[in-house]
Amino acid sequence: MKNALFPIFCLSAATALVCSAENYSFDHGPYLQELTDDGVTIVFTTSGKGYSWVEIREKSAGEQAPGESYWTSKDGLKEADNTLHAIRIPDLKPNTAYQYKLHSKEITKFAPYRVTFGEEIASPWYDFKTFDPQATTCSVIAMSDVHDHTDQLKDLLKFGDYNTCDAIFYVGDMLSNSFEKNWAFKSYIDASTEMFAKNKPFIFVRGNHETRGPVARMIPAYTPRTNGEIYGTQRIGNTFFVFLDTGEDKPNDHREYFGLVDFDTYRTRQAKWLSKVVETPEYKQAACRIVFSHFPISEIEQYNSKLPDGQSHGMKDASDKMLKILNNANVDLMVAGHTHRFAYHEPVPGKRNFPILVGSNKSAVRLDIENGTIKAQAYDIENKPLLETTLGRREGSK
Ligand SMILES: [Fe+2]
Repeated sequence: MKNALFPIFCLSAATALVCSAENYSFDHGPYLQELTDDGVTIVFTTSGKGYSWVEIREKSAGEQAPGESYWTSKDGLKEADNTLHAIRIPDLKPNTAYQYKLHSKEITKFAPYRVTFGEEIASPWYDFKTFDPQATTCSVIAMSDVHDHTDQLKDLLKFGDYNTCDAIFYVGDMLSNSFEKNWAFKSYIDASTEMFAKNKPFIFVRGNHETRGPVARMIPAYTPRTNGEIYGTQRIGNTFFVFLDTGEDKPNDHREYFGLVDFDTYRTRQAKWLSKVVETPEYKQAACRIVFSHFPISEIEQYNSKLPDGQSHGMKDASDKMLKILNNANVDLMVAGHTHRFAYHEPVPGKRNFPILVGSNKSAVRLDIENGTIKAQAYDIENKPLLETTLGRREGSK
């Protein structure tokens, strides 16, 4: 009787395991965030709640070498019983090739004195390389206002030869609005993961559309940063990038926001942060300084005062609070979006001491930077050139 039952039990158990393995999976990512000379954050999701960790090894260690494990812990607790996993790997060597592998154990019951684990899963190994602090060249693609048109995003990446870039900047309004939990994945993160983001990072610059809808308060969790903010900085070799978060376009008390936004205060706080960033040795010593901002920060009237229904408010407020800081900070280029109209504005000395490239909703720009000289090539979704210019070091700018 036991012998007869045993195979049946095994079959049932095996079936259960197979079912569990099929059900519990990595379903979005992995994608790299905040890659630096010495660290990276790896983000992914699981189809159910679990406990996840990442194994990492130097690529030169070979395919049989075991990795070192990292997980996220806070206040003495390992992050667990969650589906969105963001794991920071610190203290890496600069300019070094690494490999990483995801691990996760499903949690089927989480009680005070009993945690029940389900299936354990692992991913293949993926490659990435930390940035070289001595690098004098850097290439990036920037685009904005894709508004859920994922095929367009893919074309713009292909036309810009994304494989030869160090990072991709998404300068806001990648989503139209945040309707449902996985909207950011559907809109641009899954496509990025499929094409490059397992191995090289994208940097998300929030647009005004990503501040709307029921999921807006979750959006920052998909692109976590160690400074705990959406705005921040990124250095690649001797190029320094600042990315701002200009918030909503209309006044806080506009009927569309139902009294639930607070962007004037936020922009004031951000301006204080910016004024400190531009005084740091890392910023000052960079060969090139590029600012990304969803709203153009400028003196240009068409952006700051001519739009109906209060839509100029955010741009004017951001410009009032940040233009003066940027004008005194030897900025080499600003890349913006929002207007859905491609434009390139030369500097106006004394009013705006840096050029602005405003992307449309159907364009991207590739920036190839070498020792402070920026070669900018903008193109549209049919790969038609929109602009090709070289921005040299301006006198007195370094
Ligand atoms: Fe926008």
